[in-house]
Amino acid sequence: MDALVKELNQHNYNYYVLAQPTISDFEFDKKLEELMELEKAYPAYQNPDSPTQKVGGEITKEFKTVKHRWPMLSLGNTYSEQDLRDFDERIKKAIGSHFEYVCELKYDGLSMSLTYQDGKLIRAVTRGDGTQGDEVTANIKTIRSIPHRLSGSDYPDNFEIRGEVFMHKQAFERLNKERMENDEVPYANPRNFAAGTVKLQDSSEVAKRPLDCFIYFLYTEQRLFRSHWESLQAIKNWGFNTCEHQKLCSNIDEVLNFIHYWDEKRHQLSYDIDGIVLKVNSYAQQEELGFTAKSPRWAIAYKYKAQEVETILEQVTYQVGRTGAVTPVANLQPVLLAGTTVKRATLHNANEINRLDLYKGDTVLVEKGGEIIPKIIGVNTLKRPENAVKISYPNTCPECGTTLIREEGEVAYYCPNDEGCPPQIVGRIQHFISRKAMNIDGIGAETIEAFYRQGFVKQISDLYTLHEKRTELMRLERFGEKSINNMLAGIEKSKEMPFEKVLFGLGIRFVGETVAKKLASHFHSIEPLMSATLEELTAVDEIGGRIAESLIAYFEEAAHVEQIQLLKSFGLQFESIQKEIILSGNQLEGLNFIISGVFERYSRDELKDLIESYGGKILSSISSKLNYLVAGENMGPSKLEKAQKLNIPIISDEELLKMIGL
Ligand code: IVH
Repeated sequence: MDALVKELNQHNYNYYVLAQPTISDFEFDKKLEELMELEKAYPAYQNPDSPTQKVGGEITKEFKTVKHRWPMLSLGNTYSEQDLRDFDERIKKAIGSHFEYVCELKYDGLSMSLTYQDGKLIRAVTRGDGTQGDEVTANIKTIRSIPHRLSGSDYPDNFEIRGEVFMHKQAFERLNKERMENDEVPYANPRNFAAGTVKLQDSSEVAKRPLDCFIYFLYTEQRLFRSHWESLQAIKNWGFNTCEHQKLCSNIDEVLNFIHYWDEKRHQLSYDIDGIVLKVNSYAQQEELGFTAKSPRWAIAYKYKAQEVETILEQVTYQVGRTGAVTPVANLQPVLLAGTTVKRATLHNANEINRLDLYKGDTVLVEKGGEIIPKIIGVNTLKRPENAVKISYPNTCPECGTTLIREEGEVAYYCPNDEGCPPQIVGRIQHFISRKAMNIDGIGAETIEAFYRQGFVKQISDLYTLHEKRTELMRLERFGEKSINNMLAGIEKSKEMPFEKVLFGLGIRFVGETVAKKLASHFHSIEPLMSATLEELTAVDEIGGRIAESLIAYFEEAAHVEQIQLLKSFGLQFESIQKEIILSGNQLEGLNFIISGVFERYSRDELKDLIESYGGKILSSISSKLNYLVAGENMGPSKLEKAQKLNIPIISDEELLKMIGL
């Protein structure tokens, strides 16, 4: 097992840090699987450095605040080249002209402080306010390019190292698309997505959102290196990921060349940067220069301006999403910006159109900054054509003509005709078959659109009567017998999909994947969920008023209830199959438990199984029905407070074992 751990960690390093894998993903997965099986069979031999630990699993309710040993300072920054030359002059005045700069990219993520002791990662803390931050170790451990254990042996016993945690643009776009499909608010840029991810409570969720990290600074008490450049080379050998685009420059002109080069090329990087950082290389000279209250005098950031360009606004079109939200989109005369041709820009909502005061044919200023989707930041009214027509947000749905509504406190307008508005219907069926919902093989989004237009599918349940229309389908041009068979087999198979997927597939507003899972595991079947009151719904963990209200409104509609009945009659799963519990004893019969926090020896699922196998029940929220709260480390203070208020005994995992007599 140890040999496998070592080998797999080396492969991870080759893959994530060196970007030079020496085995295929398939071979890697096979070995990882082998290790997982061994760990399952021999848990006592599990190695804490095992790569299987990088999948997360800890839930930290609130993060612990930790004081930084060395404050996390910021950098002085500027947009002007003259300022850089002045900075250079100041340095020359202080230390003479014999010095070098290390130029680095300024990664646009969030800074993280990592502490290593005896070669092991023991703590990861966010910047916070610079003097203290949140301890997010469990989440940071899911980042594959951050080593849990170091290689080599020439690292100091105790040190802190800092770097920037970020998300690659491609992962951002994919995950954000998924969020939008799930009706979750999309993140504006990869940095916000990374920051939101690092602060998630459940580290197994973090593990699903790939983050990366570039290390840019080492702090040690011992003096190991003479310069920043030297330390950057050394930390690579310890297993850290540093950015390959760094340069040692001997004067400010070389620095400016580096800056110009990356101003052009930065859009080709797989991650966002917002500037360049230059640091005086020698540690002795850094010390001589010292710090101001906020930042080092030996470093400065040059920031790139967000790129902007003028183009013509041809027209504004309106997209109706599957939930009926009507989003305005600016259609632009194509123009090159930040490395891509821009044809469209988002206008967000009606307020934005009013704010910008747009006219058809206007010359608009388009910006692509940290945001992936370009936006219109202004209008050049001097270039407005004569007799131009003002653009105003429509009162009725551009697709079906229904009067739009705006709910209190929301900026978006909705088309309320969810049963009759074509893009909503098509969108809903497309969502139902999608990978994360029912994952129906043999049928895609375009087919759904075509089927809708030709009248084969008008609602989700029509999918399950398609087999009756086999002959008509065969007459369609683009379908061969084989593809029809595939599709019908896929639809038939979807009847086995678990309740939570069906629930998610229905596309109820604000009921994303996680919420659907929570609801399914709490209510077990559709009937109690359909008749649940607002209080019953909000009593479920993580279900707030907004979701509860949306569920109630959904089930109040007769058409929705009818759909559910139809789907049920076709054999779809509206009940979760409950795990059969094999009783080992009845010591806990009649007692209700909640498990919270992190335990040293057991996972929460193990404790849950244990309680159930001795006749106890697990509740999902704290109420007077609760008999015991089994508490581990890092339990949320709100839970604790609630339990204390209700006088509920709080016990440890050991006390639980004692109750059972183990
Ligand atoms: S060095 C003492 N190097 O920029 C200064 N920072 O504005 C230590 N950043 O908080 C920072 N890329 O989050 C440094 N190559 C780089 C960087 C970098 C991005 C961030 C970092 C820092 C902020 C300062």
